[in-house]
Parts: sequence; structure tokens; C-alpha cells
Amino acid sequence: MIGQKMQDALNAHVTSELFSANLYLAMSAYCEGKAYAGFSRWLRIQYFEELEHAHKMLDHLVARGGTAAIGAVNAPGREFGSILQVFEKVLDHERHVTQSIEELYRAASAERDPASQIFLQWFVSEQVEEEARVKEIVDKLRMVGDKSSAALYLDKEYGKRQRAGTT
Ligand SMILES: [Fe+2]
Ligand SMILES: [Fe+2]
Repeated sequence: MIGQKMQDALNAHVTSELFSANLYLAMSAYCEGKAYAGFSRWLRIQYFEELEHAHKMLDHLVARGGTAAIGAVNAPGREFGSILQVFEKVLDHERHVTQSIEELYRAASAERDPASQIFLQWFVSEQVEEEARVKEIVDKLRMVGDKSSAALYLDKEYGKRQRAGTT
């Protein structure tokens, strides 16, 4: 059975994944409102991914005899600036999430909870991917600068993203 400390830490992280989901949902709607339908779609898929992260963590907690305790989720805000600023904020946020996952991993080791350590490895690798994916978008948007035709091209390209497991 999972210890109280890990239970609390995982529960807190479930709430933080739900915040990530809502942040990307808000950003998706914001981009849609700015006529960036492709980036809006990309962020909407990211929203679903964050929900899946929350579910995955909750399932681990419950499977190990823990009690789910979902906390209040902060409002994500509604103004995100230019399309570059949107993705700079996504990258900042993902870096913050990476730190939080690494703390969870260290806590699992300190609590002598190998099942959580092994479980959290997936999240550690996922964060490497998430940061790389978002950094690529930020780098490309920086390259494009104020050339709107190039920004619209990127919007179209990133709008091709599919949800995992769907076609
Ligand atoms: Fe996540
Ligand atoms: Fe994420």
C-alpha cells in the first residue's frame, strides 16, 4: 500500500496536471479567437494529453490503495499575448512541471517506494519529450519573427497534429 507522503504528493500533482489541462484549453480557445486554428488544435490535443496524465496518476494512486483527493484548480488566465508568447508560456510551464515530476521521483526514492519510482519513470521521459516538442515550436516562431505568411504556414503544419490513438 502506498504511504501517506506519496499519496499527498501524487494527489497534489494530479491537481497540477488538471491545471495544465485547463491552461492549454484556455490557450487553445485564445488561439482560435486569433485565427490560429492550427495552434488551437495543437493545444486542444495537449489539453487531452494533460487530462490523461492526471488519470494515469490517479489510477496508480487508487490501484495502490490510496485515496484520491483532487484539490481546487486555479484559473488559468485569459490573455496570453502574441503566438510566440503563448508558446513561451507553454515552455515555461512545462519546465516547471518537469521540476515537479523530478521532485516526485526523489520523494518516491526517499520514501522507499520503488513502485512509484518505476511508475514515475514514464513521466520523467514524457517531460523530456514535452519540453523538446514545445521548444521546437518556440524556436520556429522566433525564426519566423513578424513574417505573418510564415506564421500561418506553421499554424497549418502544427494543426496536423493527431490525438494519440486516433486517426
Ligand atoms: Fe502532464
Ligand atoms: Fe505537459
